[in-house]
Amino acid sequence: MLVNPLSYLTAARQEGWAVGGFNVYNLESARAVIAAATNLRAPVMVQTSEGAVKHAGFGNIASIVRRLAEEAPVPVALHMDHGKSIEVARAAVEAGYTSVMIDTSRLPLEENIAATREIVEYAHARDVQVEAEIGQLAGIEDVGEEEAEATFTVPEEAVRFVNETGADSLTITIGTSHGAFKFKGEPRLDFGRLGTIADLIENPIVLHGASAVRSEDVAFAERYGARLPKATGIPQEFIQRAISLGVAKINTDSDLRLAALGRMRQVLTERPDIFNLYELMGEVEDAIRSSVEARIRLFGSEAKAA
Ligand code: G3H
Ligand code: 13P
Ligand code: ZN
Repeated sequence: MLVNPLSYLTAARQEGWAVGGFNVYNLESARAVIAAATNLRAPVMVQTSEGAVKHAGFGNIASIVRRLAEEAPVPVALHMDHGKSIEVARAAVEAGYTSVMIDTSRLPLEENIAATREIVEYAHARDVQVEAEIGQLAGIEDVGEEEAEATFTVPEEAVRFVNETGADSLTITIGTSHGAFKFKGEPRLDFGRLGTIADLIENPIVLHGASAVRSEDVAFAERYGARLPKATGIPQEFIQRAISLGVAKINTDSDLRLAALGRMRQVLTERPDIFNLYELMGEVEDAIRSSVEARIRLFGSEAKAA
């Protein structure tokens, strides 16, 4: 069923597990995520970035996901990931999304609060869940330790932000970053900061940039010709610790890309005579489904569908 995800985000926060937010961009990726959720009886969030919307078209991708979700036996939300403006977040609500992220985190705090509050009012009147962000995602290695820490969420500001905006769920920044190149040295996240924020707010906390980018998956893709030197992600133990401290939604995009690319390269290499594109795309879909299932197990959301 297609639903507003607030009830299961809240249950996850209270019970100590996390909802998976998985990025999709076409029929196969959407169907793979919903199949994984169905197989494991997990509530899930199917999400699109602005880039994915540009690729597929708002109406097209919304129709695909809404239809698959309506037919699914588990709760599925259609979520707009990183809506960078009021216009995009509103357009998602109008296109039938059941959840939106307003990401105006790059703006000064007052402006971030004002933009977020405006979307909260608009979305709540239409039964749509709102995720918002405070702090900026920046890898410690990208910008240097001091600068990265300056972009991390300030606990007192997080309290003020949720109180003044009415946002349902909150993305915080503690050292994760998007993509497949998260750390040059030892992986490190600011768990102390996460614990402090979780003590101060009851809202479901969201972790972006959380893909594992497992070395075995990188090696597999590289065996078939990929070049991903120094690709690294967030270790499994970090995810478990983050959930134990209050993270209730975890986003994954890069791991699904890695799984899809590895399988596509393998099939094209090992079966040079392949000609039927649905066979190739079927393999890609299977690889994404399997990667999503592994994430759902890690997040503890298996069998949590009501
Ligand atoms: O928000 C982060 C996702 O990984 C989206 O990436 O902008 O390349 O679609 P994208
Ligand atoms: P990854 O790049 O780590 O998969 O993060 C995805 C994400 O946060 C999407 O919003
Ligand atoms: Zn993100």
